[in-house]
Amino acid sequence: MYRVLYRKYRPRCFADVIGQPQVTETLKNELRSGRIAHAYLFTGSRGTGKTTCSKILAKAVNCLSLKDGDPCGECEACRGIDNGSIMDVVEIDAASNNGVDDIRALRDETVFAPADVKYRVYIIDEVHMLSIGAFNALLKTLEEPPPHVIFILATTELHKLPATILSRCQRFDFHRISPDDIAERLRLVCEKENVHIDENASLLLAGIADGAMRDALSLLDQCMGRSDNITEELVRRTAGLADKSHLISMTDAFIEKDAAAAVSLIGELYSQSKDMARLCDELVSHYRSMMLIKTMKKPRDILVMSDDDFRKTEEQAAKLPLSEIIDGIEALQGAYEKMQRGANRRVEMEMTAVRLCSENSGSRTESDPSLIKRIEALESAIKQGTKPASPVLRQQTATPLPAPVQMKKPSADTMEKLRKNAVPMTQWPEVIEEIRKSSKTIAAGFEGSTAYISGKYVLVDSPNDICFDLLKVSSQRESMRLAIRQVTGQEYKLGRYSYPDEAKEDDALSELVKDLNSAGIPVDKQNNNN
Ligand SMILES: Nc1ncnc2c1ncn2[C@@H]1O[C@H](COP(=O)(O)OP(=O)(O)OP(=O)(O)O)[C@@H](O)[C@H]1O
Ligand SMILES: [Mg+2]
Ligand SMILES: [Zn+2]
Repeated sequence: MYRVLYRKYRPRCFADVIGQPQVTETLKNELRSGRIAHAYLFTGSRGTGKTTCSKILAKAVNCLSLKDGDPCGECEACRGIDNGSIMDVVEIDAASNNGVDDIRALRDETVFAPADVKYRVYIIDEVHMLSIGAFNALLKTLEEPPPHVIFILATTELHKLPATILSRCQRFDFHRISPDDIAERLRLVCEKENVHIDENASLLLAGIADGAMRDALSLLDQCMGRSDNITEELVRRTAGLADKSHLISMTDAFIEKDAAAAVSLIGELYSQSKDMARLCDELVSHYRSMMLIKTMKKPRDILVMSDDDFRKTEEQAAKLPLSEIIDGIEALQGAYEKMQRGANRRVEMEMTAVRLCSENSGSRTESDPSLIKRIEALESAIKQGTKPASPVLRQQTATPLPAPVQMKKPSADTMEKLRKNAVPMTQWPEVIEEIRKSSKTIAAGFEGSTAYISGKYVLVDSPNDICFDLLKVSSQRESMRLAIRQVTGQEYKLGRYSYPDEAKEDDALSELVKDLNSAGIPVDKQNNNN
């Protein structure tokens, strides 16, 4: 009998769960010291281990010989729960049992002590699907849980849970799993399955899975259905990722400002039944890659693509000014959203293509025009291999600004006051997840960032400046405010936690130029690398 990989390789103990130490280590510690809560909430993105950890926790609280906080897997309780003979661990799929009656029935049951083990555990998966009435019924039980009952709630959609439920649970956030961790796990699975996988293939698979281990294993499963020698090429074919050539040609048309070519290419893809929203999304990723190539020191390390695709993308990035790339991302993302809301996909795609081919593409951004000018000044400085002398920048910024610049540096006094009252914002990862729903690109810009709450402000801190550049674009600042409101239910102003000191220009590129110059590297990176 064939069992799909992601079931077969579902971790059976916390030690086997990858990429979630903030969950597994904390739970193991609590279990070791016997501190057991009555309600747990597992939240975070899909396919990252929420259901898996619920099952492990249900065993751990009942295991008769806990091993370093992990269930032993061998005692009566562990085996009984695993093979389903012990009925005290109940898994409820809230997607199909979401009514008041379902939860009331459960509530009536909780008064009875468990039959075979210490705790009766209710795992309510996809808990956000419960009706309002059901939530209220659940709340009553959570308010006074019988001592022998434990609830484990799991959901991807935290914002759909009433605050009254949230406040009664111990909450654990599951993160997207890093491509390296996923790739390593894939190699391990392949080893056990006696299948060969190229290192590049595992990395590509991990990249496509976008943080979800289940997606990675499902795709691996499909690849294994085709061959037991898994190469990058096979992954690409299986994932239905036609090679990137259509993205490259499309972008070429945008670079050449050849609207006719772009529109006829769209027609061709359309007649091959290419989904226009998918195309739009792929173009967004392609543009994001170009943005990262232009702003990061070692883009090769984080972009999952073949060497050949990387070289082509790099060539195209060299031909487009950063302002045009950022504009492109905005336009494509706007189109994608409209397509999701029911706009005619083909027309939307064509309009966006024509827009990207128009002469003033790149000057459309509502963003701070002085920023764009500075980016361009820096870029041409990079190209000429000169240090972007500050006076050039001053001159550029000296022109009066038509639009108010937000995120402007407040006075030193204000900053100090804000910082003094700042407390870490624990919901920040959730805000980023919220942003990711509408834009992976923007979310990526915030990777590694943290935030603080101080009075009416959310103060963002980040090791890289891309996120601050993004926040200078008014539409993106707006989506950030919206996401914060979604998650916290409150309005906040946005600010930076710290500002680069005066001597430095507050711009990612100036840093880059400095580094390149001091390393004696010819500054026109794109053209010298090939
Ligand atoms: N952190 C992880 N470590 C190892 N394997 C994992 C991890 N997360 C997920 N998996 C694999 O993916 C499969 C699905 O994971 P699981 O059902 O726990 O995800 P989930 O977070 O509940 O997803 P969803 O939100 O879609 O319900 C598991 O059976 C396992 O094979
Ligand atoms: Mg699940
Ligand atoms: Zn056990």
